[in-house]
Amino acid sequence: MTKPVVLSGIQPTGGMTIGNYIGAINQWLKLQEDHDCYFMLVDLHALTVRQEPEVLKQRVLDGIALYAACGIDPEKSALFVQSQVPEHAQLSWVLNCYAQMGELNRMTQFKDKSAKNANNINVGLFSYPVLQAADILLYQADQVPVGEDQKQHLELTRDIATRFNNLYGDVFKIPEPYIPEFGARVMSLQDPTKKMSKSDDNPNGYIMLLDEPKKIEKKLKKAVTDSDEQARIYFDPQEKAGVSNLLTLLSVATGKSIEELVPAYEDKMYGHLKKDTAEAVVSMIEPIQTRFKEIREDQTLLNSIMKSGAEKAGARAEATLKSVYNALGM
Ligand code: ADP
Ligand code: NA
Repeated sequence: MTKPVVLSGIQPTGGMTIGNYIGAINQWLKLQEDHDCYFMLVDLHALTVRQEPEVLKQRVLDGIALYAACGIDPEKSALFVQSQVPEHAQLSWVLNCYAQMGELNRMTQFKDKSAKNANNINVGLFSYPVLQAADILLYQADQVPVGEDQKQHLELTRDIATRFNNLYGDVFKIPEPYIPEFGARVMSLQDPTKKMSKSDDNPNGYIMLLDEPKKIEKKLKKAVTDSDEQARIYFDPQEKAGVSNLLTLLSVATGKSIEELVPAYEDKMYGHLKKDTAEAVVSMIEPIQTRFKEIREDQTLLNSIMKSGAEKAGARAEATLKSVYNALGM
């Protein structure tokens, strides 16, 4: 049996919060056991905003090292850099000729991004969703994990693929959205009614996977709880959002259920919970940080991960591009 193909893009900017790790990467680790996964650092997409070449280069390497350190296994999954597989740019051009200005004009992400980047509304920003369509269709992906903000782009991908297939026969697999099983949702430490995000203006709201242990302790110490005078500790995301978020983190980091954890805090204060949570989070991510440093400093290893990833991805991409050109008489 062939395994279902899953493709996911990773922005070479900004690293990863513990929310991303707990909510997304943990899913990838399970998924790579019984799916054919392609994880790609999308450096071509990054060009739609100005990049400092040396910084971009380092961030791509950071991304590869971080995913490998988290347990994405280059033996099981393709972990690669988009620009190292030339078929992305090639198919993207072809698909540009089958995408309509009108439909791209309706993309809400383009509207948002061009409003924010009024001094550099480049053609790449406009046709970004077409490159995304190429990313997906090249691998004949069955499933694509999409957040709310990407649903419209996947719809467009399906529309372009269907249009092409109607003209030239079944060249592309029509991809479905991948709905992840329920993973824990980590909330902001400063406003536990919204999810933890690296786009938060307040850096105390989130913990990055590569934050120093001292910084993690500090951020958790400052975490917003509530003004319950008796400082009771129990799980109730509505009434006790901050405390419940700490319990969720503690539970994920220790592997113990929340029911199992709560009784131990009957006579304790919020400070205890924060301290224990900090310790547990630090022990969960310390091995990842250590592995990250090892991989990041080993340029030979990084090169070999990227090379084998690009070869595996390239073989599949090349086959698709061939059938596209063939269908077009080229
Ligand atoms: P961010 O807001 O940190 O930039 P993204 O919106 O880019 O994160 O999401 C990347 C992935 O991480 C998605 O699969 C998303 O579901 C997951 N994710 C993001 N934030 C959280 C969170 N706070 N808790 C759980 N999962 C999260
Ligand atoms: Na984001």
